[in-house]
Amino acid sequence: GRTAVVIPAAGRGVRLGRGAPKALRPLGGVPMLVHAVRAVARARTVSLVVVVAPPDGAAAVRTVLDEHPLPDSAGATEVVVVPGGETRQESVARGLAALTGDVDVVLVHDAARPLVPVETVEAVAAAVRAGAPAVVPALPVADTVKRIAPGVPAGEPEPVVDTPERSLLRAVQTPQGFDRATLVKAHESAPREGEGATDDAGLAERMGVPVVLVPGHEEAFKVTRPLDLVLAEAVLARRRA
Ligand code: C5P
Repeated sequence: GRTAVVIPAAGRGVRLGRGAPKALRPLGGVPMLVHAVRAVARARTVSLVVVVAPPDGAAAVRTVLDEHPLPDSAGATEVVVVPGGETRQESVARGLAALTGDVDVVLVHDAARPLVPVETVEAVAAAVRAGAPAVVPALPVADTVKRIAPGVPAGEPEPVVDTPERSLLRAVQTPQGFDRATLVKAHESAPREGEGATDDAGLAERMGVPVVLVPGHEEAFKVTRPLDLVLAEAVLARRRA
């Protein structure tokens, strides 16, 4: 079977400030989404990429991708574009619905992680091929993390509930890799209401599917806030040096 990558890119990027949809913000002069597509397409195992565009932006995203063709190193990777939904979870579900052919391994990769190294993509795909139904790249956390009480109004001091032991916490990244049938079933049985899941493996966990972590990579960080753009530009400049 084939390995496909679904790239949710339908977020508005509110935390990044005003402007174009986050996935189309430039990084080194090239839209973030283009970096993300190139990063996963470089993986030898990947032959199909499904980009999930903003609900009203599929045509614009198609145009941007056509203006930035894949390098020869991407081989014959096919790139399709579909419209996304209101939440990340909905966007991923729409991407899964667009899979064609004999795909049996699916990776889900945030457009907002444009600098993921190809080695991370390959490692996740290989772990799924080796038999793990759900694989997540992760790193230890640098900061101590506190849990707070829910429902505290914004601006008020937040009461602390407890402090999980830091050595047992991991920050998870993408691409998260899955056996296709497992991920499709996880999305079908996920609750539709609310903000949606922030992470696909979380849906698999709810079904009792074992999820394993493999080492993530510092450069697979998510571009969320303005400072992340500064860091991303610096990483790109270092690569080009
Ligand atoms: O909001 P968050 O940082 O978790 O977004 C992670 C990824 O999910 C981003 O690449 C974003 O474009 C995507 N997303 C989406 N559809 C939404 C919300 C977010 O595809 N409705």
